[in-house]
Amino acid sequence: MKIIRKIKLMQEYVKRQRKAGRTIGFIPTMGALHEGHLSLIRQAKKENDIVAVSIFVNPTQFGPQEDFKKYPRPLAKDVRLAKSAGASVIFNPSADEMYPAGYQTFVEVGKITQGLCGASRPGHFRGVATVVNKLFNAVPADKAYFGQKDYQQARVIQQMVKDLNIAVQVVICPIIREQDGLAMSSRNQYLNAEERKSAACLYEALKVAKAMIKSKIKETAKIKKEVRNIIESNLLAKVDYIEIVDAETLEPAKMIKGKVVIALAVYIGKTRLIDNMVIG
Ligand code: PAF
Repeated sequence: MKIIRKIKLMQEYVKRQRKAGRTIGFIPTMGALHEGHLSLIRQAKKENDIVAVSIFVNPTQFGPQEDFKKYPRPLAKDVRLAKSAGASVIFNPSADEMYPAGYQTFVEVGKITQGLCGASRPGHFRGVATVVNKLFNAVPADKAYFGQKDYQQARVIQQMVKDLNIAVQVVICPIIREQDGLAMSSRNQYLNAEERKSAACLYEALKVAKAMIKSKIKETAKIKKEVRNIIESNLLAKVDYIEIVDAETLEPAKMIKGKVVIALAVYIGKTRLIDNMVIG
């Protein structure tokens, strides 16, 4: 399988594929691939002739106190996994290739970035939107695949694609979970055995919230309180946020109406995990 490290070579590769009449599916990742990423690659393989996967740990989306340095980078394993799931090419640029000396352009998506993770991680979505925009230029694909686990990220990217008229179709794929319901994430590997057990409380709480909504409870405050109780009954868990928002605008909802997302960010020990459920 081809591994390309230069933007220009990546663009030329895509150009050649297009000239030959092939469609391109693209999965941007930061590596440390797990079953969630592989499900995106498999989906892209079904829908496109060529599947490109980028592996780049993007410095601009990490805050100064965050885990940029310790973020796992098992490149050889990632290449093997991506290939086995059907990837045709890996784009693995260096930080200098993406952000050369003198770099000064950033993409800011508006309101939709301000709540949820945007409130707890200032500058995060500016970094995400910027790098995804650059990746879309490096890998001009027909379709790009993102996981629903990062729901706000997926919506931010959809908004950016719409606002900037980027010619790519954004596909959001379902969350892939471990047996106990924990959403798959590269950061799960930071958890020790005890924390790993506790981490299942996010999904437990989401299931209870869903059941409350099904039983026609409409006040989101009531639902959020119950979710908080479940999570906080766990000694290792510390809530960052629990929100119920409109699925389109991400505005907080007072009452359950239309399509909503129950979104959580919870520290288990030092590891910050996110999860969500779309209802309606
Ligand atoms: O979800 C991720 O892995 C990253 O935020 C992304 C979209 C690859 C941008 O760096």
